[in-house]
Amino acid sequence: MKHEVNGLGTLAVHAGEPTRKAHGAVTTPISCTATYVFDDTAEMRDHFEGRIDREEYGRYGNPTVRIAERKLAAVDGAGDCVIFSSGMAAITSTLFAMVRQGQHVILTSDCYRRTRQFVTQVLGRFGVESSIVDPDDYDGLASAIQPDKTRFILSESPTNPYLRCLDIERVAEVKKRYPGVKLLIDATFATPINQRPLSQGADLVFHSCTKYLAGHNDMLGGAVLGPTPLISALREFRGVLGGILDAHSAYLLIRGLKTLELRVARQNQSAMAIAQALDSDPRIERVFYPGLESHPDHQIAKRHMKGFGGVVSFLVKGDLDTTSRFVDRCRLPVIGPSLGGVESLIEQPALMSFYELTTEQREAIGIKDNLVRLSVGVESTEDLVRDLSGALDAAVSGA
Ligand SMILES: Cc1ncc(COP(=O)(O)O)c(C=O)c1O
Repeated sequence: MKHEVNGLGTLAVHAGEPTRKAHGAVTTPISCTATYVFDDTAEMRDHFEGRIDREEYGRYGNPTVRIAERKLAAVDGAGDCVIFSSGMAAITSTLFAMVRQGQHVILTSDCYRRTRQFVTQVLGRFGVESSIVDPDDYDGLASAIQPDKTRFILSESPTNPYLRCLDIERVAEVKKRYPGVKLLIDATFATPINQRPLSQGADLVFHSCTKYLAGHNDMLGGAVLGPTPLISALREFRGVLGGILDAHSAYLLIRGLKTLELRVARQNQSAMAIAQALDSDPRIERVFYPGLESHPDHQIAKRHMKGFGGVVSFLVKGDLDTTSRFVDRCRLPVIGPSLGGVESLIEQPALMSFYELTTEQREAIGIKDNLVRLSVGVESTEDLVRDLSGALDAAVSGA
């Protein structure tokens, strides 16, 4: 870039891109190669002895992936970024890299269930202990820290499905007293447009790029952002574990990032309008959206977030079947897991992630049969509001 720019929209379009592209192309080149050739053995020596910066083999790095990493680092205000083949590959590789036998980690209770499963079951098998604390229990979190053993605190913000928001600055203050403890935030639901946890005291940030960052429900990827030395070490470790993204998916991520700010602005605005409409609808029992004053973390979200995000969760007045009827009658949001794409997606968690549990078992972990999670896409706001209201008409009348 010819001059300094700070706007996230500008950075998302231009940061990380090569200044001159082959054939004068305006778009990012896709480097589809498994390996890279050297002119001669002297170049090999220069590479291995650190005199030149170049690629070596596809598992260690790819130029298109590197462009995505640099672009995302610029947008999130991070020293550097390393990208993996999925959000879970980013999380599991990082946690594996950070802990060893006999150490202890802290998770907040609403964490993505696969993250929780990895920590409690997989890391547990390697002798890593874990404690789970509610995201609003700041005293509980402080007293769960074992100064000689705790390696990290991991939370999401906002969380899924109740969109609890962590006061990241407050937790960062607590963990500052323990230099060995790192604060890791999965900010997938927030996106760098709505919140930048690194500037609020987090040590590392995760994003499932599958969601808002790529934004079109067409690729899987995961990113870790943080200070350069830590990210460089993770990049080395990625070369061992092998979860690098492919060049085509990196291109889709780059293309998605270019419109991130626009999409998130629309999703924030539509989600707020939908949350307000549902909140005043007598057929809805309760709405969970951090932008509503009734949300328990509204004040935290207002202080720390630029927008409240594109996911709205709510309870339909009625039982499992009434709620299923409502979900089935929606025409615009399609039924499916995931979130953050241009297409609105709706799901009834009792029949998706928690299908194998009984109603009582689900209640025990806070998942009600009449809970719905809506990921708001970029369709016209009025069409979405009308569609949800029409589906409620049909579900409640049993039509
Ligand atoms: C908050 C959060 N983090 C991480 C993941 C995992 O991401 P991926 O599906 O890209 O592996 C998900 C997936 O739903 C998620 O919701």
